[in-house]
Amino acid sequence: MDTFILLSCLLIQCFLMIITPTMSQQSIPFEGPRLSAHPEFKSVSDHGIKASSTSTSSSNTKFRTYYYKQTLDHFNYRPDSFITFNHRYVIDFQYWGGAKTDAPIFVNLGAEAPLELDMKAIGFLHEQAPKLKALIVFIEHRYYGQSVPFGSRQEAFMNASRLGYFTSTQALADYAEVILHVKKMLMAERSPVVVFGASYGGSKYPAS
Ligand SMILES: *[C@@H]1O[C@H](CO)[C@@H](O)[C@H](O)[C@H]1NC(C)=O
Repeated sequence: MDTFILLSCLLIQCFLMIITPTMSQQSIPFEGPRLSAHPEFKSVSDHGIKASSTSTSSSNTKFRTYYYKQTLDHFNYRPDSFITFNHRYVIDFQYWGGAKTDAPIFVNLGAEAPLELDMKAIGFLHEQAPKLKALIVFIEHRYYGQSVPFGSRQEAFMNASRLGYFTSTQALADYAEVILHVKKMLMAERSPVVVFGASYGGSKYPAS
């Protein structure tokens, strides 16, 4: 009896070893690394600046919040790929020299947290921006804060097909779209752009 159990276990193990690589390959829809939500940030929604829930902008003394109509999936042409969601970004105009000068645009790429946490943490941008008369743009990472597709966190995290759009590769393409949009909106197409990020947010270049 013992031998039988042992043999069955070995057989099951072999079987699992054979099927596991095939299964995991089939279930990965994109090449970009998958991300997961940090449990600490699950309940964080609004900190610091109050953002308006409309799709225009809300003004504050220093910051303006905007929502870009972002594409769910930048790399496929399935019907679902064209679903859009409100992608939040915040612009700090206080130091900017304007589009007609050589003033750069500093863009902070959001990491695995709502936008507000980055805005509080990155002092470096505010030290450098006045010297260069830079515009500062903070872009939120998809699936965090207010930039969650499918209407709510619960909907977005519901199952594997919806989580499949939660990748750093998609996030990079989001940033590219927002940056181009901001440049166009401010007629600053010729302004140089410098991107910043901390930790995961600063290590996104390999996927571009
Ligand atoms: C995930 O949920 C959506 C909405 O209910 C559904 O259309 C989709 O087929 C589901 N995907 C999986 C893998 O269950």
